[in-house]
Amino acid sequence: MARHLITSALPYINGIKHLGNMVGSMLPADVYSRYLRQRGHDVLYICATDEHGTPAELAAKEQGLPVDEFCAQAHDAQKAVYDGFALAFDYFGRSSSPENREITQHFARRLNENGFIEERAIRQVYSPADGRFLPDRYVEGTCPHCGYDKARGDQCENCTRVLDPTDLINPRSAISGSTDLEVRETKHLFLLQSKLQHEVEEWVSRHEDDWPQLASSIARKWLNEGLHDRAITRDLDWGVPVPADTWPELAAEGKVFYVWFDAPIEYIGATKEWAAQDPENRDWKSWWYESADDVRYTEFMAKDNVPFHTVMFPATELGVREPWKMVDYVKAFNWLTYYGGKFSTSQKRGVFTDQALDILPADYWRYFLIANAPESDDSSFTWEHFTATVNKDLADTLGNFVNRVLSFSKKRFGEEVPAGNAAGEAEAKLGGQIAELLAEYETQMEALQFRKAAAALRALWSAGNSYLEEKAPWLEIKTDKDGAALTLRTAMNLIHLYAVVSEPFIPSTAKTMREAFSLGDDTAAWVTADEARALASVPAGTPFTVPPVLFAKLTDEDLETYKERFGGTEG
Ligand code: 2FM
Ligand code: ZN
Repeated sequence: MARHLITSALPYINGIKHLGNMVGSMLPADVYSRYLRQRGHDVLYICATDEHGTPAELAAKEQGLPVDEFCAQAHDAQKAVYDGFALAFDYFGRSSSPENREITQHFARRLNENGFIEERAIRQVYSPADGRFLPDRYVEGTCPHCGYDKARGDQCENCTRVLDPTDLINPRSAISGSTDLEVRETKHLFLLQSKLQHEVEEWVSRHEDDWPQLASSIARKWLNEGLHDRAITRDLDWGVPVPADTWPELAAEGKVFYVWFDAPIEYIGATKEWAAQDPENRDWKSWWYESADDVRYTEFMAKDNVPFHTVMFPATELGVREPWKMVDYVKAFNWLTYYGGKFSTSQKRGVFTDQALDILPADYWRYFLIANAPESDDSSFTWEHFTATVNKDLADTLGNFVNRVLSFSKKRFGEEVPAGNAAGEAEAKLGGQIAELLAEYETQMEALQFRKAAAALRALWSAGNSYLEEKAPWLEIKTDKDGAALTLRTAMNLIHLYAVVSEPFIPSTAKTMREAFSLGDDTAAWVTADEARALASVPAGTPFTVPPVLFAKLTDEDLETYKERFGGTEG
């Protein structure tokens, strides 16, 4: 048993997220957490809303709400969707919490004491039309590196290079579109990342061989470009205030920390929030500080977040000169596209997580998304692919198997698992296959190869179908009742095994499958290879019920309705 700390990139507070966000961070982190818990590990899965920054301010303004009220509501709205997706966070916090404020200010003070923060006067973009300084991401223009014409002042999302607003060609205000931009002088805190370059490089080189190539290549690219000192404060009303004990002048001017400075610190902050709910029994520091050597820390994120997690946050943690836990494994994802084009929150293109749940229960989405996770490359969501996958894998291979076996057995043998013959050759062969596929599933899950783990799961489901087709109990029963009983008992054992191994992917359906049998084992503890091989966890005589159809088959009409409602096929 090991301790696993797991975090998924914190979703921005503004707006319900789309399926692309879900598959690139929270969902795989949940699948992995569930798997590790089933295997008996001590898991702490932490996430939170990322609440600071200009987008939150602007969204609040749009809704006519004070920003704190807007955030409280938006947090609850997101949390409700994540509950709907059955994301089993140990804690889902808020980066605007007092805990995060305290740790963020502490980090800043320590960085300052250690000579890694400097106050500098800078010239910043001011928009008279908007009556405000424009934060980096609210200056848009053409990327000087790749020519992308909607690059933001903080980063080009096309080539992932980190930018400064003044780097942009033809800059304009993202708020008003005004090109009448001035540059005015104002003071800010700078994190002297250049002084930490060497240490970060050394740290990355100790880890990059373990990381997926996507993560290590982005980290390398960033390091090769050289770490630049970065302004970590902003002129905003909403954020973690610069501490007045250390920077009285800036505090008086109302400066707050840049959202990307406090957001990763919220991984720690949220753990403290979690502990504050049950201080007797929860020790947040044991996960993050000093004694956390035995903790394995895995982060989940989409590729645009990689520079911040492999370089910038590590630089911060290193510069603090305190023994904070640093990430062990960075699981990064490419993009999920919508018919080959971008899912876009701002342009409302694609499928949003709340809409998805309106259409179908979470398990349909969870399975499809993980089975097609954009791991080695971008992957495309299309309704055709979605409906075909649901019908083939979920409705036919799994759902139909479960229903067919249980209904037939009930009809011919009553409401208890029948005994029949002792296992024979076909069962031995099946047991061998199952043990092998289970080992493959475990290997892929432990390597965080989600598509491959899903393929192994699908192969486990298929093996049951092949066995059933081969034994054909509906024919067998005509000549050999005990033989048919054995087949059905074996198939019911498969159903129970599926209930256990499918849990990380489709938790609600897994529960239904498990509860079909009165075994009193509602904990879904993992199965050993021997148990899987023996296929004997559900003994003869166990009462069972036939659950309702697990997955509805989606019709051509459904497909047309979805396409019409969501469109977007023009890519
Ligand atoms: O890109 C994003 O959606 C950010 N809100 C991720 C933040 S991750 C972390 F560091 F907090
Ligand atoms: Zn670019």
